Amino acid sequence: MTNQLFTPITLGNCHLPNRIVMAPLTRMRAPDNIPTDLMVEYYRQRATAGLIITEATPITPMGIGYPATPGIYNQQQIDGWQKVTKAVHDQDGRIFLQLWHVGRISHPDFHQGELPVAPTAIAAKGQAVTPTGMQAFVVPRALATEELPTVVEQYRQAAENALAAGFDGVEIHGANGYLLDQFLRDGTNQRTDDFGGSIENRCRLLLQVAEAVIAVCGAGRVGLRLSPSGTFNDMSDSNPEALFSYLLAQLSPLDLAYLHLVDALEGDIRHGAKVVELALLRQAYQGKLIVCGGYDAARAELAIASGLTDAVAFGELYIANPDLVARFQANAPLNTPDPSTYYGGDEKGYTDYPVMAA
Ligand SMILES: Cc1cc2nc3c(=O)[nH]c(=O)nc-3n(C[C@H](O)[C@H](O)[C@H](O)COP(=O)(O)O)c2cc1C
Repeated sequence: MTNQLFTPITLGNCHLPNRIVMAPLTRMRAPDNIPTDLMVEYYRQRATAGLIITEATPITPMGIGYPATPGIYNQQQIDGWQKVTKAVHDQDGRIFLQLWHVGRISHPDFHQGELPVAPTAIAAKGQAVTPTGMQAFVVPRALATEELPTVVEQYRQAAENALAAGFDGVEIHGANGYLLDQFLRDGTNQRTDDFGGSIENRCRLLLQVAEAVIAVCGAGRVGLRLSPSGTFNDMSDSNPEALFSYLLAQLSPLDLAYLHLVDALEGDIRHGAKVVELALLRQAYQGKLIVCGGYDAARAELAIASGLTDAVAFGELYIANPDLVARFQANAPLNTPDPSTYYGGDEKGYTDYPVMAA
């Protein structure tokens, strides 16, 4: 072990005392889409992370696709998140908000019967998680070209709201088959306007969103998450290597705080993913990288030591180990996460995982 994880690093405006990042984790415990006091406690418990990235947070009601996900588009939500950021800052932590629009991964039940929106009217295979249970995805409504400036404005406003709520920055969710990823890939984007067709056109919306969010926050407070090898939410692309090489070349000069890459996961490989190698992405991008996906401390050390990444995010391990940094440092055993309590519910499997005995 080399202890790379415990060396400090600067990501944009943020100085991290270690390279252990809490990955964004949807937990569906925010009734009426408003952050709760239980969420304050959950994030407070995890404040020793080098950086916390919050659960994906809808930027507009149309961006909602799962029950009880906390938004960032009204004052009650800003007030709720303010308690979260204060709790984390009181513990000397740092926290970014993940900005989310689900696009087609939703259901009319979330939108008073209106159709979810997407680049193109193509239904995802699979089922939406709705307040009344699982229901088949519907064919979404294709966004008109004239509507796209409104979408960009919703990201911009959400970033402004996030700063008002005291966040240290925002992470644009460009991964996992949600709206911005749907625009990137030709499996979901078959538009014939300036936002579809060529790779350049498919990257346009995401780059416009990045620019708008940077204008509000400054680049040093903006991260971006991508999943170049992802198949989750029925995603596919004819040439992800070309797509992401182009996109990363466009992103490099933006000088973001970081780029956050989800590695090919076991499920992606099972679903026939065209894997884009991390080494290729590292070369294509000039800036700080966080990677995520199936890492433990040893693999994370290796990834940093070999120069493949600058920091590593941990998802499921952070669900079960609020004191993950201390446990890694002590080489202590880890709590085992319980998937039955990942989504929805109360403090069980949320704020009741024990810290190490003193
Ligand atoms: C319960 C759960 C919720 C998740 N929610 C989000 C999310 O809101 N946003 C996101 O980008 N990824 C989300 N992910 C993906 C994780 O951030 C991470 O990429 C994934 O769990 C792989 O990392 P790991 O092997 O360290 O868990 C979620 C994963 C899990 C298990």
